[in-house]
Amino acid sequence: MREHLRLFNFTGAGGVTPFIMNCAVILLLTSSCFTWSSAIYTPNRAAPKKLKYLLEPPVYAEVVARRGENATLPCILRTKPSHYKVKWTKLESEHIGRENIIMISNAHAFKPYGHLGPRASLRKAHTMDASLQLSRLELEDGGTYRCELVNGIEDESVAITLRIEGVVFPYQSKNGRYKFTFHEAKEVCAEQDGTLASYIQLFRAWTEGLDWCNAGWLRDGTVHYPIIHPRPACGGDLLPGIRSYGPKDKINDRFDAFCFTSQTSGSVSYISGSFSFEQAEHACQRRGAELASVGQLYSAWRFQNYDQCDGGWLKDGSVRFPISKPREHCGGIPEPGVRSFGFLNKTMHLYGAFCYR
Ligand SMILES: *[C@@H]1O[C@H](CO)[C@@H](O)[C@H](O)[C@H]1NC(C)=O
Ligand SMILES: *[C@@H]1O[C@H](CO)[C@@H](O)[C@H](O)[C@H]1NC(C)=O
Repeated sequence: MREHLRLFNFTGAGGVTPFIMNCAVILLLTSSCFTWSSAIYTPNRAAPKKLKYLLEPPVYAEVVARRGENATLPCILRTKPSHYKVKWTKLESEHIGRENIIMISNAHAFKPYGHLGPRASLRKAHTMDASLQLSRLELEDGGTYRCELVNGIEDESVAITLRIEGVVFPYQSKNGRYKFTFHEAKEVCAEQDGTLASYIQLFRAWTEGLDWCNAGWLRDGTVHYPIIHPRPACGGDLLPGIRSYGPKDKINDRFDAFCFTSQTSGSVSYISGSFSFEQAEHACQRRGAELASVGQLYSAWRFQNYDQCDGGWLKDGSVRFPISKPREHCGGIPEPGVRSFGFLNKTMHLYGAFCYR
């Protein structure tokens, strides 16, 4: 059990510190640094203990799903002890050392626990199936889960990662750069239909093309920014990578935010016009919708390849537009992305509206 906790702490606030500090020293996280640290933090792989009852490695080491979908985390028995219980827990990197039990089940009873319990069930596709089903996935469900066979003598377990597929976007205050405390950053991400991104999510976003020269809070209270094209203002001519400020003072330090969101249940549409902010709000209301949040626009761009070469008001008072097929007259930037005009004077009658319903 200890081994497991140590293994998965590395994504969390405490566990991640030595790892971040290492990389912070060189102000850069290259993929080799990442690989190196993953190797260090997987003692189980180095000294595998042959399991008697549970299939290992599990069918999939990682399960990927979007917000709102259902996911099945596989856990299959190879042989059955005469009496046993199945216990599923989530290894919460945010709460170090704390286990979050999701459910415990034996031949006769199923008992759900905690905030995941009500959305959990056992698949039971056959008599050897102890796979966990989670329904209506939420942004914060991503992480590592443990399936444990408890028979009082030789308890054993396997770990499976659930990754919520999504998109990371930087978010800056309408009052300018570096205005959010950690808690304010958390709140603005929620207002934009997201959560603060984890380090792993930012790292993945960087591999997928995110280049952003302003530092932002992550969920674990550290501050980073991802650079693909090194330039003097963004950490100098270091190699491409994640620039790290390490952990910061959550009360007194101020930065931007990196938010994470995933698929939405509704959809985004554009109404063309020369609206003021207020007129844009009304235009959406007339369609039974409301102005979209920044997260909803990013989600449409990421999951529906949403492309609209016209600026539109969003709920936070910013004006943006999503580009999936880059072209010269639509911002002139060669990569796909959501472009921003920033926060404009709300009385300007210049833009359309992005509505969400
Ligand atoms: C997801 O799970 C819920 C509850 O178990 C079920 O009602 C729903 O039909 C499932 N959705 C899909 C798409 O399988
Ligand atoms: C916005 O524009 C209007 C009209 O041009 C002007 O009166 C007002 O002061 C501006 N507001 C801000 C906050 O700049």
